[in-house]
Amino acid sequence: MADALITVPVPLGGGRSYDVLVGPGARHRLLEVVPAGVHRAAVVTQEAIGVVVDAGVEQRIFFIGDGEPAKCLETVEELCRAWSRWGLTRGDVVVAVGGGVVGDVTGFAAAVYHRGVPVVQVPTTLLGQVDAAIGGKTGVNLPEGKNLVGAFWQPSAVLCDIEVLGTLPPREYRSGLGEMAKYAFLGVDRLPDLPLDEAVAACVRCKAEHIAADERERTGTRALLNYGHTLAHALETAGAYDLRHGEAVAVGLVFAARLARRLGRVDDDAVTEHLRVMAGYNLPTEVPPGSDPGELVALMARDKKAVDGLTFVLDGPRGVEVVAGVPADAVEATLFEAG
Ligand SMILES: NC(=O)c1ccc[n+]([C@@H]2O[C@H](COP(=O)([O-])OP(=O)(O)OC[C@H]3O[C@@H](n4cnc5c(N)ncnc54)[C@H](O)[C@@H]3O)[C@@H](O)[C@H]2O)c1
Repeated sequence: MADALITVPVPLGGGRSYDVLVGPGARHRLLEVVPAGVHRAAVVTQEAIGVVVDAGVEQRIFFIGDGEPAKCLETVEELCRAWSRWGLTRGDVVVAVGGGVVGDVTGFAAAVYHRGVPVVQVPTTLLGQVDAAIGGKTGVNLPEGKNLVGAFWQPSAVLCDIEVLGTLPPREYRSGLGEMAKYAFLGVDRLPDLPLDEAVAACVRCKAEHIAADERERTGTRALLNYGHTLAHALETAGAYDLRHGEAVAVGLVFAARLARRLGRVDDDAVTEHLRVMAGYNLPTEVPPGSDPGELVALMARDKKAVDGLTFVLDGPRGVEVVAGVPADAVEATLFEAG
């Protein structure tokens, strides 16, 4: 079965390159990808996940809480303190086994514990496999907003085992499709026609290309991966996370298409295409009724990309690009636009 895995390289400078292995049984390759010479593995996961890994060295499991509230500085402190009591050192490895919440919080704790210990990501949600576990963005939320504290900390390897997706609740699987839909607008063709492992690998490949070109989001190439995310993060924060991340991204993608149309960058066909893709995945497309437009705009202004006024990733004649200085009234007027 091992031969059936797809390997997607993430080529980076400074010895930070790594491989993403995609396919059934990929988690069993952990022994091969932990850095040579490590003595211990701290496996971080959540009670509900139940995915067993074997790092081939002494290992201990550390559980964290569920959902966005657990993606906070307190969890990072608890993890670091527990690792310290166990005696984890820089010569050991941390293994994150879970969705984006486990991956982000564990990656960040690994980045700051002893100023950095190696981490292997074993994403167990579709969203984690196509996106969150790849690229080294780690971090936690503050009450003021999502992902406001974090670090770039590349994993030593990522194991995307599609077998483990079998236990994923249907809503979580669909949420992953929201993040997958994003790649359809970043140039990945025929996603719905591909077998699952190839579809995941195609998304990973697309993400890897953006990261290799702009590891730390300095030139704007990597920022394109945030397509749909400016509104998504605001919706998640405003609604105290009652939308799953991929659902919020789906709404954010359609909003971005409508905003691009309002700004004269695309025509009706582009909006129709966004709506068609979301319908194919049975994803939501509209801002939840009752959302406060003023609050959403204020939250979007606090987005990390917003260094020069309201900033969005928008489609246009040259394709998807970062657009700064978008007028607030255009944003507000688009929020509840139909069609
Ligand atoms: N770092 C990045 O580049 C990046 C990119 C995209 C999203 N994210 C972050 O990812 C997070 C969302 O991740 P998510 O959608 O994976 O949510 P999640 O991590 O909250 O997981 C969803 C739920 O599924 C459960 N679960 C996970 N794997 C399971 C399995 N195999 N079987 C049964 N249950 C399982 C979890 O316990 C959880 O209850 C957000 O915080 C988002 O900001 C990060």
